[in-house]
Amino acid sequence: MKETKNILTKASVNRENLIHFLQTEDTEEHQALLAQARSVSMQHCGNAISLRGLIELSNQCRKNCYYCGIRAGNNKTDRYFLSDDIVLRAADYAWKKGFGSIVIQSGERQDKAFTDHITDLLEKIGSLTHRELGITLSCGEQSEDVYARWKEAGAHRYLLRIESSTEDLYYSIHPRDKAHDFEQRLRALENLQKLGYQTGTGVMIGFPGQHAGHLADDLIFMKDFGIDMVGMGPYIPHPDTPMYALAGSIPGESRRLELSLRMIALLRIMMNDINIAASTAMQTLDDTGRLQAILAGANVFMPNLTPAEQACNYSIYSGKPVFSDMAESALLHFEDQVTEEGYIINYHKWGDSKYYYRRIAGEKQEEHEKRT
Ligand code: 5AD
Ligand code: SF4
Repeated sequence: MKETKNILTKASVNRENLIHFLQTEDTEEHQALLAQARSVSMQHCGNAISLRGLIELSNQCRKNCYYCGIRAGNNKTDRYFLSDDIVLRAADYAWKKGFGSIVIQSGERQDKAFTDHITDLLEKIGSLTHRELGITLSCGEQSEDVYARWKEAGAHRYLLRIESSTEDLYYSIHPRDKAHDFEQRLRALENLQKLGYQTGTGVMIGFPGQHAGHLADDLIFMKDFGIDMVGMGPYIPHPDTPMYALAGSIPGESRRLELSLRMIALLRIMMNDINIAASTAMQTLDDTGRLQAILAGANVFMPNLTPAEQACNYSIYSGKPVFSDMAESALLHFEDQVTEEGYIINYHKWGDSKYYYRRIAGEKQEEHEKRT
């Protein structure tokens, strides 16, 4: 790879500069930013891209986020819940193919039947794969007790997007009620971190009312919180949602993709060794979206393992690639593309966040110093 010039140093990361790089219309500056992030990623995370086989367990959701196609208020969606048999087959596939880890994602439910079901599934997957398969959960806000039980049952990473770290903006895309409480979401993230999960968050990029200042604040929030991993991507309007009415006011597709790439690049420069996912939504806007994300500093790829029949109902936004994405050939195609760029796929590894281990070691050191 060519030597790259650092256009943003740690010392020069501040709100003003972040806004500048999110807004710049200078294509050379854009390219230099992405090149720097890629070089930081190579240096701190290496050239191995980790896999997460994505299993979309259920689209049943009690919430009503204004932007999401599987919100409770959308009665045009057929609701499903994958049987244990299907989930275990997907996990077995991921394990045998050497994916190293899976993500179980679901709409949000907090009833006991659901939380017990997840515990049970985690245990079943653990015994099927001799606990060799890493498991990330993304099942929304839960009580501390539930998070603790799921951890005990075998989950070790958790993804809960903050969506926006600006409270007012958060409430412009969620109902202002008890089920969508901003403070509660923050508490949930804190609980996950406290319980020892590798904790991930993320935001949507380019939704109505969001400006560069909000995105800069999101990056600063992630850094200050000490997140271990991130999944963020462009907002994609879904016709069966209230927010669709505002679709005319958002930046165009190429601008949203560009902004998403810059967000990845900036975060990589700010947090050198966290895990950053190349999100599926990037691919929805551009056939090479996820490859571009990798080249901007992402290091995690999530092939979808949900069977086609159900995956088409897990439509959080329209145009989400499902059928094409699921086949093994999609991974092989991706592998070909990234190999050409000097990367390899991290088969058979959990692909944990290096930052997490540094963070934990730092906390232990701090505790030790307090005690002595
Ligand atoms: N566009 C992009 N991302 C979306 N999500 C939900 N709806 C949309 C949309 N219309 C994302 C949210 C959520 C994750 C499951 O999917 O960030 O956390
Ligand atoms: Fe439910 Fe998540 Fe969609 Fe909100 S974003 S409606 S919590 S699935």
